[in-house]
Amino acid sequence: MKERPIAFLDSGVGGLTYLSEARKIIPGESFVYVADNENFPYGGKNFEQLKEVVISVIDKIFDQFNPKTVVIACNTASVITLKSLRKRFGIPFVGVVPAVKPAAQYTKNGRIGLLATESTVKSIYTDDLIQDFARDCRVFRFAGVQIVDFIENRFYEAEENEILEILRPAVEYFRRENVDSLILGCTHFLFVRDALQKLMGSGTKVIDSVDGVVKQLAKIIQENYPRVEKSEDQYSRFYITGTSYSRDTYEKFMDDFDMEWGGAI
Ligand code: DGL
Repeated sequence: MKERPIAFLDSGVGGLTYLSEARKIIPGESFVYVADNENFPYGGKNFEQLKEVVISVIDKIFDQFNPKTVVIACNTASVITLKSLRKRFGIPFVGVVPAVKPAAQYTKNGRIGLLATESTVKSIYTDDLIQDFARDCRVFRFAGVQIVDFIENRFYEAEENEILEILRPAVEYFRRENVDSLILGCTHFLFVRDALQKLMGSGTKVIDSVDGVVKQLAKIIQENYPRVEKSEDQYSRFYITGTSYSRDTYEKFMDDFDMEWGGAI
């Protein structure tokens, strides 16, 4: 491997949308995507345990790929571990955290929804984001645990009805609370973004953090690695960490996101 890649990490497939947008704005780079399926799901894990899990997979990523930077393409891992990672490893990390600031700038009625994992919903980092950027708003939080599992394991097989059923409890809650902006605080939820927007209706704007994250990534790469020339060895590879899932499980995701299979790390 000649070219140093940009690495993306999530517990599963959630971060693929972020990688795909990053490829569009920094097309000369190589990418490795690690789905830490051995430790899926991250949400709901004890915070100390999650820190250990993430540090150990980042260690592996460093050993194998020597990346230019790592995007923690997971809100749960970012809100719980980013501070420790930045202290421990000597390269810039890009985190993905709930887009509280854009939601607070957008809302007209001051009622914001946050759909995330249980850990993200409960984290102090999330409390701080709300305190810093949405102090004057009411933020209604909902842990969409089943949605994460559904996207990881059933997304391509499911009929439309099943998708609607999975989203229903969250949609009912947010509609009841009359939120006019809804933050997707888990990268897996990008897969059901359009369905959620449709169910919530035009009175609610569904907000994600993709733009902000890829712009931040592009800035870090530009500042730290000004490009000399486009490498001919570019690649974009998908890796897993465990043995319980196989290549077949991810084939459709790799096709949709135009990635090669990398294997297990
Ligand atoms: N995709 C992850 C996030 O953004 C979480 C999924 C999980 O619970 O593992 O929070």
